[in-house]
Amino acid sequence: MRQGGALAAFLDLAPAEESFRDAVLSGLTRRAKSIPCRFLYDERGSALFEEICELPEYYLTRTEIAILADCAGEIGALAGRHAQLIEFGSGASRKVRLLLDALEDPAAYVAIDISREPLRRAAEAVAADFPKVPVVAVCADYLQPLRLPPLPARGEGRRLGFFPGSTIGNFTPAAAVDFLAGCRRVIERGGAFLVGVDLKKAPALLHAAYNDRAGVTAQFNLNLLERINRELDADFDLDRFAHDASYNEAAGRIEIFIRSRADQIVTVAGRAIRFAEGERIHTEDSCKYTVAEFQRLAARSGFRPLRHWIDPAALFSVHLLGVA
Ligand code: AVI
Repeated sequence: MRQGGALAAFLDLAPAEESFRDAVLSGLTRRAKSIPCRFLYDERGSALFEEICELPEYYLTRTEIAILADCAGEIGALAGRHAQLIEFGSGASRKVRLLLDALEDPAAYVAIDISREPLRRAAEAVAADFPKVPVVAVCADYLQPLRLPPLPARGEGRRLGFFPGSTIGNFTPAAAVDFLAGCRRVIERGGAFLVGVDLKKAPALLHAAYNDRAGVTAQFNLNLLERINRELDADFDLDRFAHDASYNEAAGRIEIFIRSRADQIVTVAGRAIRFAEGERIHTEDSCKYTVAEFQRLAARSGFRPLRHWIDPAALFSVHLLGVA
């Protein structure tokens, strides 16, 4: 087993605990039912998402890794010596290793994530594998305005933000602009931001990626109902609900719902919630962008496109944005 490495610092900015109960009850009592997608990621949801990343239909993860592996040297050269690498929503800190290998003598790796213990484990593993890089773990909600403490620095090293995985697609475009603008303030003048963005493509490929044959994406989506059963004393019968994901070509996004297969009443935290047959709960959107669309979005947040890379099949893009 790998030994955990010593962290340069673990900073707990004590992200506020959100009430799952309030979010679910308010989401299920609206005319158009919806539950925010961040609630898909409890322990089981996160494990199912890891499985999704390995599915043959889900090209996003392996394609982004291939692009990063190819362009890491170039990114390292563009970032310059002694960069402070800051990852927003660092999760298992896997892809960032490609950058740590390529950067010249990085001054720090700063991993920001809301899940305290997984963050600690992942950051310690990076510290063990990259003993020369000071690793700072920051437990915070990266969606909220963030002020980083003074970071380990060397010389004139600049900040390089990292937000892989096309998680930016799970925001509405307006929320993506706000989020990017918040990151720009953290990255500061002279720095750059590396963002992974899924590209628009043939609808059939997108449809398959969110409707895999093994049914893992369906399990991931329906796990939300199991979570509500477990945590909110609810009685959803999973056989009476279905995963429903389709590509809305006009809007340029995959839209994910849970659809009721019958007229039914479900009790959630003591409240009776009525579902008509065919009625849906919106659980997630995954926006897809052309390179030009994403560059326009980034410009609205005060970033300037510097470089971008796409794979030979034009499935995925990685953008390097500069802070003017
Ligand atoms: C995390 N995010 C980028 C995934 C996506 O592709 O939008 C979430 C996901 N939902 C279903 N499959 C994958």
